[in-house]
Amino acid sequence: MLYQVVIPAAGQGKRMGAGKNKLLLKLDGVPILIHTLKVFEDDESCSGVILAVNEEDEKEFNSLLSEYSIAKVIGIVPGGAERQYSIYNGIKALRENGIVLVHDGARPFIEKGQIHSLVTAAEQHGASILAVPVKDTVKKVKDHKVIETVERSSLWAVQTPQAFRMPLLLKAYELAEEEGFLGTDDASLVERMGHDVMIVEGNYDNIKLTTPEDLFFAETIIRKRRNMTKR
Ligand code: CTP
Ligand code: MG
Repeated sequence: MLYQVVIPAAGQGKRMGAGKNKLLLKLDGVPILIHTLKVFEDDESCSGVILAVNEEDEKEFNSLLSEYSIAKVIGIVPGGAERQYSIYNGIKALRENGIVLVHDGARPFIEKGQIHSLVTAAEQHGASILAVPVKDTVKKVKDHKVIETVERSSLWAVQTPQAFRMPLLLKAYELAEEEGFLGTDDASLVERMGHDVMIVEGNYDNIKLTTPEDLFFAETIIRKRRNMTKR
């Protein structure tokens, strides 16, 4: 059940509006990226991490890796203009024929048990993603007018990690590049090849820190977890 993980960390954090890469912002005194990396550092099944990083952040990220004794980062690759390009750089740097995960640096609350369920599903089916049932009613809208109410029971909000057998993921990225396809997640690149992607039910805590209010939700999740471990 060993796996490697590509972590894109080369965004601009525009929606967070902090004037710098949001992964450098601190939660509970520790940078967001370090929270995320610690999960993989502490998972004995993780055999290596590739980080995609912007040139302007590289020095600071490197010093954080030593400050927090993160030893599993086996490669740092340049980020691209889009998330997909950052990840492709990471995938090309991997020397791995087993299971590869892609996980957003901005999702620090991923848990080891969920990672392992996902890896098992990817070993069996080739591709698996974490997702949670959508709680809101979702409508399709055009020009501020409702076109239809989408059947909620068939809707899932997808998260990362997303896990794949390496040859499948590499092929999917090669094809997307050849054909100029830009997806909003990694699985969509595999789906368009006609390959099945299995859902593993995730946890609502596994939020992506995107806008400033997410930092408040994040503090609450940290407090909740602290209370749970105290009990
Ligand atoms: N990411 C990346 N390369 C990019 C864009 C995003 O590596 N060109 C990474 C981000 O660092 C983040 C993850 O992909 O860990 C998810 O992206 P998102 O939440 O959109 O982060 P940002 O792109 O930084 O934020 P924004 O879109 O608000 O600018
Ligand atoms: Mg973005």
